[in-house]
Amino acid sequence: AGALRGVVALDGPSGTGKTTVARKLAAKLSAGYLDTGAMYRVVTLAVLRAGVDPADAERVAEVARSIELNIGTSPERPSVALGDEDVAAEIRGPEVTLAVSPVSAVPAVRELLVAEQRRIIAEVVDAQGGIVVEGRDIGTVVTPDSPLKVFLTASSDVRAKRRSAQDSAAGRESTVDDAKASVERRDKLDSTRTASPLRKAEDAVPVDTSELNIDQVIVALAELASQRGLLS
Ligand code: DC
Repeated sequence: AGALRGVVALDGPSGTGKTTVARKLAAKLSAGYLDTGAMYRVVTLAVLRAGVDPADAERVAEVARSIELNIGTSPERPSVALGDEDVAAEIRGPEVTLAVSPVSAVPAVRELLVAEQRRIIAEVVDAQGGIVVEGRDIGTVVTPDSPLKVFLTASSDVRAKRRSAQDSAAGRESTVDDAKASVERRDKLDSTRTASPLRKAEDAVPVDTSELNIDQVIVALAELASQRGLLS
């Protein structure tokens, strides 16, 4: 495949394989990669460490403004740091996962992070031509002009199994039932919040990954990018 020119916006709920797909697609197309969920997670970690109530929008916004968030854009070696502390593992833990929905529902937090995301995206496109960006509001808010928007879905049973397997692989205890409850809880919060709820952009291509493996999804997305003339 050629190299990606421009932005691929990859949205959808958790457990659809979005992160793996985004990283592998970016690597295949010699593009950058941005995990916007990791940015909301870093703010959440800082909120918890500061002893601030995740539901206290004003203080949450203060914490978000006060931290230095450093995120890398290499699909092979994604990195995420709070100041110069590597927090990649800690932001995937249960405390952060539980508190990230209220934090990401705060409009001032979203404004701040969306501006930062646009800055990073412009920088990477400038330097290397293309980037795959994953999140919940990339096609609807962050880069609505993106030439390829994809909305990944999967049944909640499939998503719970994937999330539970992921947790076990990372050494975190997990049952499929707990994972299903957690996935459905977060979907509900993410889809019903007033600030940039999770929804498919009208012009996004829906891809149901329930019956597809990662490589099949990658092939389908690379094909879409090629059809749209995004590969050089
Ligand atoms: O993709 P993830 O599970 O790491 O995302 C963590 C949370 O961050 C998710 O529950 C919703 C929020 N999020 C968001 O509101 N907007 C984004 N662009 C990405 C993530």
